[in-house]
Amino acid sequence: MTHANCKLRTALAIAIAVVLSLSSCMAYAQSAAVPASTLALSTGFKFVEMSGEELFVNVCRGCHMSDGKGAAGAGTYPSLAGNRNLEASGYPVHVVVNGQRGMPPFGAMMSDDQVAAVVNYLRTHFDNNYQDAVTAEDVKIVRR
Ligand code: HEC
Repeated sequence: MTHANCKLRTALAIAIAVVLSLSSCMAYAQSAAVPASTLALSTGFKFVEMSGEELFVNVCRGCHMSDGKGAAGAGTYPSLAGNRNLEASGYPVHVVVNGQRGMPPFGAMMSDDQVAAVVNYLRTHFDNNYQDAVTAEDVKIVRR
């Protein structure tokens, strides 16, 4: 192989590599141009349950258990049963909306009505008997 021939082959190899990487870039650009609304990843999710009981069962029970008594194991999930911390209604509203340490925030996934519903359910079940119901308006105030 002559020296010139070798240089030509190298140049060709580089050109092919450039074309290949360019075409993969273009494929990327094309996929990036797909409107966000048609992408599989959603822009977020909201819980659809509306009653406090359904919300508790589907959202809270996983950590706080069906009897509200919580659990200790891989993590510590406090008991919500007969819980004096629920007396001041603003506190559970705040914890559900903003989260607190190991408790994730649910504010972005629940409407004001849903937060009020699950807090009212919690405060009137599991040996809790706080009859001063919170309203959607109370929840709105707690949102940051
Ligand atoms: C991923 C697990 C998890 C889920 C789901 C969860 N919690 Fe919690 N929750 C926790 C943990 C952990 C704490 C303790 C937070 C702390 O250390 O202050 C907590 C604390 C609380 C407290 C404060 C208790 C106290 O005595 O101070 C309330 C009220 C509460 N959760 C209500 C709820 C409600 C209502 C839901 C459903 C909307 C819910 N939690 C869903 C894990 C969870």
